[in-house]
Amino acid sequence: METRISVNRQNVISEIDNRIYGSFIEHLGRAVYGGIYQPGHEAADDMGFRQDVLEYVRQLNVPIVRYPGGNFVSGYNWEDGTGPKESRPHKLDLAWQTIETNQVGIDEFQEWASRANTEVMMAVNLGTRGADEARNLVEYCNLDTDTYYAQLRRRNGFEKPFGIKLWCLGNEMDGPWQICAQTAAEYSRKACETAKLMKWVDPSIELVACGSSNKDMSTFGEWEKTVLRECYEHIDYISLHNYYGNPDSNTPQYLAQAVNMENFIKTVAEICDEIKAEKGSEKTVNLSFDEWNIWFHSLEQDKRIKRYTAAPRLLEDIYNFEDALVVGTLLITLINNSDRVKIACLAQLVNVIAPIMTEDNGCWLQTIFYPFLHASLFGRGTALKAGVCCETYDTEGLKEVPYVTAAAVLNDNGEISIFAVNRSLDKDAVLDAELIGFEGYSLFEHIELNCNDLKAVNSFEKPNNIVPANKQTDGKTELSAHSWNVLRFRKK
Ligand code: AHR
Repeated sequence: METRISVNRQNVISEIDNRIYGSFIEHLGRAVYGGIYQPGHEAADDMGFRQDVLEYVRQLNVPIVRYPGGNFVSGYNWEDGTGPKESRPHKLDLAWQTIETNQVGIDEFQEWASRANTEVMMAVNLGTRGADEARNLVEYCNLDTDTYYAQLRRRNGFEKPFGIKLWCLGNEMDGPWQICAQTAAEYSRKACETAKLMKWVDPSIELVACGSSNKDMSTFGEWEKTVLRECYEHIDYISLHNYYGNPDSNTPQYLAQAVNMENFIKTVAEICDEIKAEKGSEKTVNLSFDEWNIWFHSLEQDKRIKRYTAAPRLLEDIYNFEDALVVGTLLITLINNSDRVKIACLAQLVNVIAPIMTEDNGCWLQTIFYPFLHASLFGRGTALKAGVCCETYDTEGLKEVPYVTAAAVLNDNGEISIFAVNRSLDKDAVLDAELIGFEGYSLFEHIELNCNDLKAVNSFEKPNNIVPANKQTDGKTELSAHSWNVLRFRKK
């Protein structure tokens, strides 16, 4: 299959906001307890954080990590996770029907984040709570004043404010599964007043309002319009969430899901601009795709988990090779829409629908770790339009899906990275990469992730079953059938 990818120096999409390579840690299953935190473990540091996990998180170079939820946050009292550990309450978490021991809270998490070379993206509880607790939390985290919550932080051992810059106004408040779900009108008023107070406490923070929980919500579109009309001048971003899956084992259709992600992004961006025009506002509200990933493998097994235990094995999807390809296509879509998507979080980071998995005797990496690693390492700089000319296919609900999807980034050091997935299950793509305005550039590295068995997985026992490899860079460049590729060019 002949394929051409054209990249023109003049055809710029946007500077990429590094925060599109963010991730997420929720108090859910073994993400925190037995994931990032396991005091007494041989790899634990002085605060009980697993250093083997920290090492992999640092490798991924995630600039932000959303915390503490997720559905969890809608029933969370942040104060429970502060102060002496022995007096912290054990509570029911109604969102995941587990027990929360509160041994990790914002004090510990911000310390973990700094050890992981990342920043906290903090969510406030707009389910059971509201503006009062949210503004207190901003004071606790960010202020240096001689006032109650700032003093409480100091008494808890943290003299310097944490300086958390990015905040979410609740989580998925349109979802019937959410603790204290709301109508669009109810949420909008609550979010607007909470936003006002939070920014009055610290005007330097940025705020993300909840969009729809996913594109298939019956209120999708109307929800966004109501929230934006009410909150427009008080917020900076609106959220998008979507998980993808292959429950019917229809691989061609599964591999095309990024087309739906792209339509979702375009639709929400149009709604933002419609409300901007309606208001005659100078300001542009951008998008925070703060939950995206594959989530379907663990749904059945999770029904058998005993209720109200601490840190059960929830949402532990084991990802196969085709999942990694889909993650690659979703990353390509985020880069290609980086003019509007300024924040994105791979949900999640450790154990729970995650690239990094732990056991008591070590860590292992899932297939999806690799495309995320490559995009995070080589996908920073300026996104350029990658014009792809190739054969297409039709699949259920989607017509003319290009076999090859690609994104191009001009890295800050002058190199060019092209990310490409060949969705064809049987045809290699012979690639003609045309770099316009890049005289003297040539391919110096071709990284590929590929496997003949689309359902093959990594595991603790076989952690290197699916790992990337380098391909020859001289002669013709091929994007093999069902492969994720990183093509790196530089001037000779
Ligand atoms: O990431 C898992 C869950 O998915 C989050 O808690 C929730 O926000 C979403 O429905």
